[in-house]
Amino acid sequence: MTTDWVLSETPAVTELPGLTAYDLRCEHRADPLGIGTARPRLSWRLASPTRGDRQEAFRVRVLRDGVQVWDSGWRSERTTSVDHGGAPLTSQTDYVWQLEVRDAAGAVTSAEATFATGLFHDDEWQAHWIEHDYETDPYFEPPVDRAEPRTVRQATIAPPRYYRRSFELTQPITRARLYATAHGLYQFHANGRRIGNDELTPGWTDYRERVAYQTYDVTEVLRAGENVIGAVLGEGWWSGYVGWDTRSHAHHYGKKPQLLAQLVVDHPDGSQTVVATDGRWVEHVGPIRFADLLMGESYDARLELGDWSSAGYDASEWAPAGDLGGDVSTLIAATTDPVRVTEDVPAVAVTAVEPGRFIVDLGQNLAGRVRLRVRGAGAGDRIRLRHGEMLQADGELYTANLRTADATDYFVSAGATEEFFEPIFTVHGFRYVEVDGYPGELTADDVTGRVLHSDTPVAGRFECSDPGVNQLLSNIRWGQRGNFVSVPTDCPQRDERLGWTADAQIFLPTAAYQADVLTFFENWFADLAVAQTDEGAIPDVIPHVITGRHGTPAWADAATIVPWTLYRIYGDERVLRTAWPVMQRWVDYVHRANPDLIWRHRTSGHYGDWLQVGVRTDRDVLATAYFARSVEFTAATAEVLGLTDEAAAYRALWTKIAAAFVAEFVDAEGKVRGDTQTGYLLPLAFGLLPEQAEQVAVKHLVADLELRGRSLTTGFAGVALLCPILTRYGYAELAYDLLHDDRYPSWGYSIKHGATTIWERWDGWTEEGGFGPVAMNSFNHYSLGSVGEWLYGDVAGISQAPESIGFRDLVIKPCPGGRLTWAEASYDIPSGRVSTRWEIADGTLTLDVTVPPGADATIHIPTSNPASTQESGHPLTDAEGITLREAGADTTTCRVAPGTYHFTAQA
Ligand code: BGC
Repeated sequence: MTTDWVLSETPAVTELPGLTAYDLRCEHRADPLGIGTARPRLSWRLASPTRGDRQEAFRVRVLRDGVQVWDSGWRSERTTSVDHGGAPLTSQTDYVWQLEVRDAAGAVTSAEATFATGLFHDDEWQAHWIEHDYETDPYFEPPVDRAEPRTVRQATIAPPRYYRRSFELTQPITRARLYATAHGLYQFHANGRRIGNDELTPGWTDYRERVAYQTYDVTEVLRAGENVIGAVLGEGWWSGYVGWDTRSHAHHYGKKPQLLAQLVVDHPDGSQTVVATDGRWVEHVGPIRFADLLMGESYDARLELGDWSSAGYDASEWAPAGDLGGDVSTLIAATTDPVRVTEDVPAVAVTAVEPGRFIVDLGQNLAGRVRLRVRGAGAGDRIRLRHGEMLQADGELYTANLRTADATDYFVSAGATEEFFEPIFTVHGFRYVEVDGYPGELTADDVTGRVLHSDTPVAGRFECSDPGVNQLLSNIRWGQRGNFVSVPTDCPQRDERLGWTADAQIFLPTAAYQADVLTFFENWFADLAVAQTDEGAIPDVIPHVITGRHGTPAWADAATIVPWTLYRIYGDERVLRTAWPVMQRWVDYVHRANPDLIWRHRTSGHYGDWLQVGVRTDRDVLATAYFARSVEFTAATAEVLGLTDEAAAYRALWTKIAAAFVAEFVDAEGKVRGDTQTGYLLPLAFGLLPEQAEQVAVKHLVADLELRGRSLTTGFAGVALLCPILTRYGYAELAYDLLHDDRYPSWGYSIKHGATTIWERWDGWTEEGGFGPVAMNSFNHYSLGSVGEWLYGDVAGISQAPESIGFRDLVIKPCPGGRLTWAEASYDIPSGRVSTRWEIADGTLTLDVTVPPGADATIHIPTSNPASTQESGHPLTDAEGITLREAGADTTTCRVAPGTYHFTAQA
């Protein structure tokens, strides 16, 4: 198995000569090309072998062609998101930035990185949108090799077209950049080579307002003489199927795909050659006969075009592309990491069902596609690949939960001895593949699962002594990978794959422990902002493709929760500045409709505590708690932005909502209306109860869990809060019981039954009932995986103080318990890498902690005998870089400077 999706090695801290800056990023990306802003944010991380080492000051210089365009001077305030402060950068320019970092002793180290700007001005675009001329060549012919289409309107999906342009370069090349995008999906080629390794570009955005273009460096691909550049163009989110109703859910943004690209070649004398899409490009249909994200792809190898992107190719049969003119008003530079293939998963088992028909098990539920090796097929032989997440009891593929998503690929052989098939414009959610029509014996070596998702940099890892918990973490991770495909989606397999807002906000804290998702969510939030209704409501899915659903409690509150959470984690204020008007309009919308502060009106679909089990959390309780939450984050944002009056007004409003919540929902016995676990978790987590009522609510929560034999009832909204709240109030052992539970409903139940991803519903499959409701039963949904936040934050113990931003004030508070004898985690906070590892052996607890420069930490060492606590063999009062804060009954608390620490204490 090859995977690129693992936490990178950092500089081995102990081997460093001193304070070291690494992982330099511009706009939070490594050496990005084509950034769209003239004032980018620059960030770096720090590591040091020396305890107490800090960045005393930094200096950034930005250079263009070796000439300095900005010198920040020596400054001290931060290590992340430093705005370029020189004159605005210029368009289409390569920059180098040099960082110097000075430590307390005055020693200076340096590091360097690059970035390049994209096209800042509309008039720099010479490119026109081009498309196949469907007027003269109607595409409504059904694809030949889709004999039995299961869906009614497949025929409206056009076969992808191939586009090319040949041109001469007479002068030497100093630099060549390709700026490319599509209304649809594109894959670029030049001189016989594929350009870049991005997939499903340009990604999904609200194309009505924002179409991202990607930038590629093609300097090495071009040469003097004839060059060819070209692309394959498919439908994707633009005009293919998205959502659940195949009769109405294609053609969301347009009917046909269109391509736009501009190649800019710089020559030594300062002149440029620009080759842009226009009516001079020619196009042809090719071997891909059909391609749709949900339905699948059909490839007929007999129709391959040969070296269509190479010089000397005979394109006389190709027709001129239709030229649609150059409206570039919606174009934006891509701001986030593209989708890529990040791992190849080998098949683990192949079962022959009947001659020519096999079921292949990849051993892992994933989102992506298959690469198939075909040997010995005759020309015209057709192989069908169907994808499914589960098997039925009879060993056949279970596909009922895909609803109308065909998730079927076809390959038609050209009869060569060995052929390879891998679709390019589709993505399936699957663990099993049925290969039908395969000539001879299919072996495991013939099938590879190619894992596709947004290539957000991995930021964390967690491991512990319990295999079940490690499997849970693995399932959470795969849930994230399978559903962060350009936007945060709900599922990768059925006819849905939408950016449900509650799922996203609930899972965000867990997602951020596993990957750097800042730009991923900033990009998605930009689509949320453009979708806000005139009244201020937020649609349930973003990008906004489902009409009539907006303003739902816990869903629409993503408007405040996502930006505030991003700010807290990444410490970048820009996200708040962009989000502020959206947040304010959203809370005002709810307030206007509910002047008595109980959110009963304008609740849209109101899904409540979605997919809760056996109980019904009161919807007004849930809504009002979320109203308070949104107002709280809006007030906090106003404070950060210096909007004092607004901050005071929203703080006052929050106080009134909290009081109204208690008056309306909390009875004389301290019970919250409905008396459900989530009903208690929400006000506890959101701080809505006065102190005394808080303790009573915890008792009622615990009583409910006990009454049910320590079993949970929570749905999407409650589940994220369950273990953290129990831990916060001293019931960690109860949280561990839930973690280890393998009775229905629990995470362990799915794992006991072979889950390799988080299921959408607790009853996705049960011993009694078999498969859950077929109308909605995904086996790869991340919401119930939001317990990941607790694994990193409490079990491994990496979190931040309540007022801390960007993890500058760390709280290291591991919580040993349950069956665990050790747990460890590493996590890339904005300033560097934090690590913790605790282990209990022979009555002794050891706790190893690394705090990077740029952060301070309060460490809580759990021990039955605080006096026994030592660091590297010294009593804490004697240890370097440590201030003892408190030796409590069962914890030693100390404050530490950056550094690596080795604590021991009686367990
Ligand atoms: C999605 C959920 C979503 C819900 C809201 C489902 O179909 O898969 O994740 O939040 O609808 O109703």
